[in-house]
Amino acid sequence: MSSNNAHESFLIYRGLKFFWLAIALVFVVIVLYIWHEPLDEPNGGSWLGYTLGVISAALVLWLTWFGVRKRQYALSATKLKVWLSAHIYFGLALVVIATLHSGFQIGWNIHSAAYILVLLTVASGVFGVFVYVRYPKLMTKNRAGLSLDEMMGKISELDQDILKEGQQLPEEINSALLKAVRKTSIGGNIFEKLSPKNVICPTTEARNLIETKFADMSLQDQHISKVIALLAKKTKLLRRARRDIQIKVILRIWLFFHIPLAIGLLGTLFSHILAVFFYW
Ligand code: HEM
Ligand code: HEM
Repeated sequence: MSSNNAHESFLIYRGLKFFWLAIALVFVVIVLYIWHEPLDEPNGGSWLGYTLGVISAALVLWLTWFGVRKRQYALSATKLKVWLSAHIYFGLALVVIATLHSGFQIGWNIHSAAYILVLLTVASGVFGVFVYVRYPKLMTKNRAGLSLDEMMGKISELDQDILKEGQQLPEEINSALLKAVRKTSIGGNIFEKLSPKNVICPTTEARNLIETKFADMSLQDQHISKVIALLAKKTKLLRRARRDIQIKVILRIWLFFHIPLAIGLLGTLFSHILAVFFYW
C-alpha cells in the first residue's frame, strides 16, 4: 500500500518500496550462493565471488555518493527522502552481500579490514536512524511552540527587566545580576553544548545567591521578589534553549563517525582490490 503523504517518514517511504527491493536483492544473492558450487570452498575468487564483490563495491560507491547528492543545491526535500530511504535499505543489504562475497573467510588481513569497516559504517548508520527518529520529537516537545530565536528574544527582554530591578538593590546583588546578564552563555564549545548541566551559569549563581542570602528580605522589598521571579523565568528559558542546542548537536554528531568510516571503507576497499589483483 503506498501513500503520497508529504510527512511520510524516510523509513516507510512509498510503502517500504526500497525495503522490498533490498529484500529481493538479498534473496536472489542468497539463492545464488546456495545454488552455486564452487570448485574450492566458497570465496571471493569464484565467478559468484567476483560478482558479489563487484555488487558490493558498486553499492559502497553509490552509498558514499549520497554525501555529494545531499549537498547538491537543487535537491528537494522529497528527493532527499527518496535517497535516504534507498540508502538505508541498500546499506543494510550490503552486509549480507559482502558477507557472502567473502565466503565467511574473515581473518586478520586487509580484506577483512574492508569487511569490518562495512559493518562499522552500517552500525553507525543504524545509530543515525535511531537518532533521527527519536530526537526531532523531543525537540518539538522541548520547544513548546517557541523557536530558538524566540527563546533568545525573550531572554534578552528578561535581561532588560533584571537590570532595571537590579539598580534598586544592594551592590552584591546588583553585580551578580550584571554578571548574569553579561556573562551567561548559551552554547559554547562542543562539550558545553553536549552537556549543558556541567556549565557554570552566572544566572543560576545569581538566583542561588539571592534565594539563599537575601530570601528573607524579599518579604519587605518587592524588587527582590520581582527579581527572583524574573530569574526563575530566565533559568527555565535557558534550560530549554540549551536543550534545543544539545539536541541539534546530537542530531549531527554521529555523522562524525559515519562519514570517516565510509571514507576509511573506500580506502581499504581500494587496497583489497589492489591486493587481490597484484599479490594473489
Ligand atoms: C565492500 C566490498 C568488499 C568487501 C567488504 C570484500 C571483502 C572480502 C573478504 C573479507 C574476503 C575474504 C578474504 C580471505 O579469503 O581471507 C574477500 C575475498 C576476495 N575478494 Fe573481496 N571484498 C569486497 C569487494 C571486492 C571486489 C570489488 C573484488 C574484485 C573486483 C573483490 C575480490 C576478491 C577476491 C578475488 C577475493 C578472494 C581472495 C582469495 O580468497 O583468494 N572483492 N573479499
Ligand atoms: C557501507 C555502507 C554505508 C556508507 C558507505 C554510507 C555513507 C554515507 C555517506 C557518505 C553519507 C553522507 C553524509 C554527509 O555527507 O552528511 C551518509 C549519510 C547517511 N547515512 Fe549512510 N552509509 C552507509 C550505510 C548506511 C546505513 C546502513 C544506514 C542506516 C541504516 C545509513 C544511514 C545514513 C543516514 C541516516 C545518513 C544521513 C542523512 C542526512 O543527514 O541527511 N547509512 N551515509
